[in-house]
Amino acid sequence: MTRILNASGCLDALAVPEVARSLDVFVTKTVTPLPRAGNDPVRIAEADVGMLNSIGLANPGIDAFVRDHLPRIEALGVVLWVSVGGFSAEGFAHCCAILDAHASIEAIELNVSCPNVTAPADEASSIVAAARAATSKPLYAKLSPALPDITAVARAAEHAGADGLSLTNTLRGLVLDRGTLEPILATATGGLSGPALRPVALAAVYACAQASDLPIVGMGGVETGEHALALVAAGASDVALGTVLFADPAAAERVRVELDASARRRGFASTDDAFRRAHGLASPRPNAPVGPQEEHGLLPIMATEPVSL
Ligand SMILES: Cc1cc2nc3c(=O)[nH]c(=O)nc-3n(C[C@H](O)[C@H](O)[C@H](O)COP(=O)(O)O)c2cc1C
Repeated sequence: MTRILNASGCLDALAVPEVARSLDVFVTKTVTPLPRAGNDPVRIAEADVGMLNSIGLANPGIDAFVRDHLPRIEALGVVLWVSVGGFSAEGFAHCCAILDAHASIEAIELNVSCPNVTAPADEASSIVAAARAATSKPLYAKLSPALPDITAVARAAEHAGADGLSLTNTLRGLVLDRGTLEPILATATGGLSGPALRPVALAAVYACAQASDLPIVGMGGVETGEHALALVAAGASDVALGTVLFADPAAAERVRVELDASARRRGFASTDDAFRRAHGLASPRPNAPVGPQEEHGLLPIMATEPVSL
């Protein structure tokens, strides 16, 4: 069964517990070793094709998280993953060692998504290896789509002991105020999420599914069951909802129903069947009816064939 998760940072379970309970897994916002106030406002801006954020990993730090937040999240009775971040392998390991003691946590997501490191495969490898030594819980490495070779980093994470991949995080973007033409975000650039990320996330999932045997949580602009099915067909085992939750907090149940309907409409017995085909574990499907574009909730972008100049 394809599980529906929230993308880290896109849902406050304590503010809207009913939304957290509508998911198969609730993933926390990234927690770091020390508290972080985050970036100055403005931290969110709407873009033409998505949204920009520069929250700056605002969080209470691992000690306050475990002391004040975790017991309240545990009381919600949700399946829980905790997202962990840090600025060194030791920082990640420190958080993982603390979380390891808590049976309520099913898995840990390692936010290994900084695109600015010079040796991303080595960096991911040392972070995952340090986290692996600190906990026996399943570890999902969350990667940036801006990596020059995401498959090399996925393989490095796998060899270092990751149990899964979360694909993908945001891409750097910029939005200018229409009047002043100045950046809207206080940090100027921020992470682009939402519809613009869909083909990027699909490409990352597709490439990593071929390069690695790890299960993949696919995310990036998922708004409908069709979008979720595309990620599954590209190789994702599970799907996470991020930006869509700001506009439609009830999206999980809708996407779950649509996903099932979309798979059956194409002749798949279930989404698992679509996943098996994506991994070459089942024979090609007999027919492939392609629904009208409206089913994707998209306006046709190319009304005519592109002209080659
Ligand atoms: C407001 C906001 C906060 C986010 N915070 C985090 C975070 O703390 N940790 C993390 O790994 N990803 C974070 N993300 C990235 C999302 O988890 C997700 O990878 C990304 O938004 C792509 O999915 P989407 O297009 O469905 O939103 C954040 C995204 C948004 C929009």
